[in-house]
Amino acid sequence: MSATHEISFTLNGIARHARVGLGMSALTMLRDVCGLTGTKYGCGEGECGACTILVDDKSVAACLQFAIDCDGRSLTTIEGLASDARAQALAKAFVARGAVQCGFCTPGMMVQATHLLATHPHPDAAAAQRAIEGNLCRCTGYQKIVEAIVEAGAQQP
Ligand code: FES
Ligand code: FES
Repeated sequence: MSATHEISFTLNGIARHARVGLGMSALTMLRDVCGLTGTKYGCGEGECGACTILVDDKSVAACLQFAIDCDGRSLTTIEGLASDARAQALAKAFVARGAVQCGFCTPGMMVQATHLLATHPHPDAAAAQRAIEGNLCRCTGYQKIVEAIVEAGAQQP
């Protein structure tokens, strides 16, 4: 039996504890230990962006982040953005622009785009495209997603 360790962290603004294995990813911890399945498992290798979360306000691929390294950190997942004004504006723009099709990439895209709007409130198309270049979408061709991000940014004060 492999050793497990108790870690403490903030998850979507709430103090949490979790018992994690040494090699466990933050993605597995979020989905299987914390029960938050909004963060998607795509490639498991840092290539698709479906598992994008914020760790201390930096966007990371949760499949590449060791759970044990989340000790003492602040994690934000798509569930934690439910009442975030930027995420709400993005969600409306995504729907209006048809930027959600199968929806598998959407949580990761939303986390990445929310992070962009927090750091660059009024991105142009090039900035929006750069921000999501690590997030793969097999359905939309990206243009509608870029347009939605620019539109949501334009609505910000
Ligand atoms: S599941 Fe993490 S980048 Fe693809
Ligand atoms: S909407 Fe299907 S992968 Fe992006």
